[in-house]
Amino acid sequence: MGNRILDVRDLKTYFIRRNSVAKVVDGVSFHVDENETLGLVGESGSGKTLASLSILRLVPKPGRIVEGKIYLEGLDLLVLSEKEMQKLRGGKISMILQDPMTSLNPVFTIGDQVGESIATHFKLKGAALGARVVEMLNHVRIPSPETRVNAYPHQMSGGMKQRVVGAIAMACRPKLLIADEPTTSLDVTIQAQYLELLKDLQREFGMSLIFITHDFGIVANMCDRVAVMYAGQIVETAPVQDIFYHPAHHYTAALLKAVPKLENKVDRLTSVPGQPPRLDQLSVGCRFAPRCSRADSQCNNEEPPFSFLTENHRCKCWHPIQ
Ligand SMILES: Nc1ncnc2c1ncn2[C@@H]1O[C@H](COP(=O)(O)OP(=O)(O)O)[C@@H](O)[C@H]1O
Ligand code: SF4
Ligand SMILES: [Mg+2]
Repeated sequence: MGNRILDVRDLKTYFIRRNSVAKVVDGVSFHVDENETLGLVGESGSGKTLASLSILRLVPKPGRIVEGKIYLEGLDLLVLSEKEMQKLRGGKISMILQDPMTSLNPVFTIGDQVGESIATHFKLKGAALGARVVEMLNHVRIPSPETRVNAYPHQMSGGMKQRVVGAIAMACRPKLLIADEPTTSLDVTIQAQYLELLKDLQREFGMSLIFITHDFGIVANMCDRVAVMYAGQIVETAPVQDIFYHPAHHYTAALLKAVPKLENKVDRLTSVPGQPPRLDQLSVGCRFAPRCSRADSQCNNEEPPFSFLTENHRCKCWHPIQ
């Protein structure tokens, strides 16, 4: 892979309240290279969104980054002023939020909303700005963009709205795009089309992508490498093939087992048995131990370190699956 675009080291983001500390991101390290797609995978509540919001320095209060380093193309993001950070957001680095309904403003046309981020970053106005907006809507394959610029969000389908959200996020040709479960609210056909579109635009624009999902089913199609998150920590990272064919962490294996297979149709999606721990009441030892069939007293009493199975495959487990 090419140059390192993002390097996150030992990131800790905590919600600190008078009587409790919730360690929602707790010592997370990962990187993303040029043109690469990293899948960030894990059950709901594992800290995927907060890890991403930390990169953008948009952690909601009372949460804050208490430790760690975040470098974007070598630039140390945690020492930048808020003004400098604002320039980066929607510029070099951008994020597509989970719910298109909440990221679009109902009282402005989609042309205004796509135009706003272009105007800020490229200092364009008038006809030049209008042309750029239409070009961007074209990129995300919105039919008849010249007339659609005047539409309001409620006049568009869910799939089209999600494309507009994509157009806003990519309007300034970011180096790094974080897509946070971008297809959760879409039906399966529209979801597949949207994922294809994302891949096309990534190639066209030369973007790196962090693709967040709780659905292992779409990881194989989208990602080069995968980081599996559990209870605020990354527990395994590996190239996508290794994750699927040689999962080493017991949580990864359980997630894979929960992926519905076409050949044995079930009415309900299976999920990993048990519940993740509360992040403000963590015990010592492996956080997955209460749900792990391989857990022993070492797992219960000592936090497992990372070990390397191969140069690119690491796993935080006392007894990795061989
Ligand atoms: N504003 C908040 N205050 C306190 N805890 C929060 C807040 N937002 C999220 N959390 C907690 O942080 C954890 C991680 O959340 P999140 O990053 O949204 O997970 P994911 O994106 O993996 O579903 C969850 O346990 C969630 O309850
Ligand atoms: S460290 Fe122990 S409890 Fe945790 S995943 Fe590995 S085997 Fe299971
Ligand atoms: Mg989330």
